[in-house]
Amino acid sequence: MTAERSRPVAIVTGGTRGIGLGIARALARDGWDLALCGLRSEETVGEILDQLRAGGAGVMYRTLDVSRTADHPRFVGAVRERWSRINALVNNAGRGPRVRADLLDATEESFDEILRTNLQGPYFLTQHVARLLVTQRREQTDAPAAIVFVTSVSAVLASTNRGEYCVSKAGLSMAARLFALRLADHGIPVYEVRPGIIATDMTAPVREAYDTRIADGLVPARRWGTPEDVGRVVSALLRGDFPYASGSVIDVDGGLSIPKL
Ligand SMILES: NC(=O)c1ccc[n+]([C@@H]2O[C@H](COP(=O)([O-])OP(=O)(O)OC[C@H]3O[C@@H](n4cnc5c(N)ncnc54)[C@H](OP(=O)(O)O)[C@@H]3O)[C@@H](O)[C@H]2O)c1
Repeated sequence: MTAERSRPVAIVTGGTRGIGLGIARALARDGWDLALCGLRSEETVGEILDQLRAGGAGVMYRTLDVSRTADHPRFVGAVRERWSRINALVNNAGRGPRVRADLLDATEESFDEILRTNLQGPYFLTQHVARLLVTQRREQTDAPAAIVFVTSVSAVLASTNRGEYCVSKAGLSMAARLFALRLADHGIPVYEVRPGIIATDMTAPVREAYDTRIADGLVPARRWGTPEDVGRVVSALLRGDFPYASGSVIDVDGGLSIPKL
């Protein structure tokens, strides 16, 4: 076996910036090869891919809109063509509404876009990959296999200016539980990682507003989360140290979601 062939392979959706890049960096450091996808062209993200490769990881990238479920087989097929195996899926790609509109004004168009991207896409990508993992585990019972869903504190904390986002993440949280239940006796753990307020492009437009609220104690840790905070958690989960904890939710939010008096 070559060195490259012995490394486990992880799919990380949206793995070229923000939280996904934090996850990709942590996994590359921990000996994983990476199959990444996103909306941007391979040329646009080329420099990032080269940085990830510099540490020795094998890295492939395809442009893929996760909401377009008909395109999933082509992407997953390309990953298998490159490595002939997949050991982990990290459902990270997601988006917020284009406009943060009040619950009484938000449009059906936005609801549809957010639900397709944040819920329907990852749900069916997971279904597709899970079938392969089950077959793979049948053929090789010690093959590493795990799935992570990156949801959000918005799965449980209500924000009336982005209801569709909250609903999508609450649904994704249930998806994590469902797949954990279905895959448990195949030895494939499924985890939900629930980030709080993380400094990325997604939160850039509200950075100043949150700076103030964080300084005022909204986040008990009194700082922004970083993509690295989330990456370290995902990498620890995929290392295989928590096989009997399938279905767990890991809050990565500096204490934001701790109910307090
Ligand atoms: N930032 C936070 O505070 C926070 C908190 C809780 C949860 N989250 C969740 O964490 C995940 C990552 O968020 P982030 O803050 O890192 O956001 P980000 O910086 O905006 O990055 C989003 C990533 O997802 C990709 N993506 C978006 N829509 C896609 C689609 N339809 N198909 C394929 N890829 C798509 C983007 O691809 P391109 O790079 O090609 O555009 C990008 O790589 C999201 O699911 C988000 O809901 C974020």
